[in-house]
Amino acid sequence: MQINPHLFILPRTPGQIVWDYKNHKQFELNLKYSTRLAELINNPSIFNKNNAIDSQLLSAGILTSTAPDICKWGWDELSKIFHIGTKNIPCEHVPQDIHQWSRQYLDHCSDVLSTPAPPARPSECPPHELIALPEPQCLPQGSLATALLDRKTCRVFTGEAVPLEMVSTLLYLSLGYLHERKDDIDDSIVEGLGARRSSPSGGGLNACEGFFLAQNVSNLEPGLYAYHPTEHALSLVKPLPTQPLGQLLCGQHFINNLPAGLFITSRFDKLWWKYEHSRAYRMAYVEAGHISQTFQLVATSLGLNTWLTGALTDDQVEALLGLENSAEQPLFFVGCGQSDGQVMCKELKAMLSNREREQ
Ligand SMILES: Cc1cc2nc3c(=O)[nH]c(=O)nc-3n(C[C@H](O)[C@H](O)[C@H](O)COP(=O)(O)O)c2cc1C
Repeated sequence: MQINPHLFILPRTPGQIVWDYKNHKQFELNLKYSTRLAELINNPSIFNKNNAIDSQLLSAGILTSTAPDICKWGWDELSKIFHIGTKNIPCEHVPQDIHQWSRQYLDHCSDVLSTPAPPARPSECPPHELIALPEPQCLPQGSLATALLDRKTCRVFTGEAVPLEMVSTLLYLSLGYLHERKDDIDDSIVEGLGARRSSPSGGGLNACEGFFLAQNVSNLEPGLYAYHPTEHALSLVKPLPTQPLGQLLCGQHFINNLPAGLFITSRFDKLWWKYEHSRAYRMAYVEAGHISQTFQLVATSLGLNTWLTGALTDDQVEALLGLENSAEQPLFFVGCGQSDGQVMCKELKAMLSNREREQ
């Protein structure tokens, strides 16, 4: 018998909350149960199947008779609990199509809007005087300012193929190791860590990586590819998954025909190597955010529209990327394609106007 390795215990007088963070379960233990659990933690071999408490702890999954899957973790327990504890969030009903998604989304929005919004920040409340800034008249001419002004999240795509040349530009400028900077040597940087991207990288480690999803790219077989930033090349990982893209992204079916996308992952092992504290976990997401924004600005300046999400169906995405129990973890998804710029899919719009009519 073993103690489930994915537990933490919170003291909450008069009891103890035992939290199985992997399976998203919580139990409140009174003194009798807590005492017995403490004895079993001290020596699991005293487990007695005829003891009613032991049997209940086993059936609750607090004890386990099978060897649990433990993946290596290089930071302290804090980020491990948060990372694993926020994966595969149980959802009573994952939308199976765009109509179900639209209904659930609208219901959720009405629930949220029926409660008061958070109050203004203290700095926004009087008596703080506002110092007006000059009109932003000196926007730089050219593509960066235009891309910043034009970038928006779209949720309707035509599905039209994206040319491979555009994909190449997108990947090079978002994730590639820039040839243009290879002679820009910084003596303070350790040998082997000189590669530079267009985005900053925590500790210069380039811990983020990308898996490119080609659903409709001209001159490229549909599939899931690993991007190699040194060689600026792709290698096939898997053919396209059988389930629609929306299923991999927590039921967001409006995105099923997105022609191209990028799963941004982070090599935690690289971060563990240089930064021991769990705080570095925050940096993994900040870096992924930089890359996501760069991808969107490049796509926008290529005349494409963009979409993004952090709502990954973790176990399915990890299986697709071949990263189960890996120190490299998928964090974010960003995609692009041709679009008329619609923010809402037509199914959601239709349901919204029906509800408005009924009110
Ligand atoms: C971290 C993050 C997560 C997001 N997740 C989703 C998502 O799951 N689904 C979605 O449709 N949009 C998602 N968005 C897009 C936002 O809804 C969008 O940025 C916001 O409505 C503002 O619109 P704009 O991007 O056009 O300026 C996300 C944005 C960010 C920054």
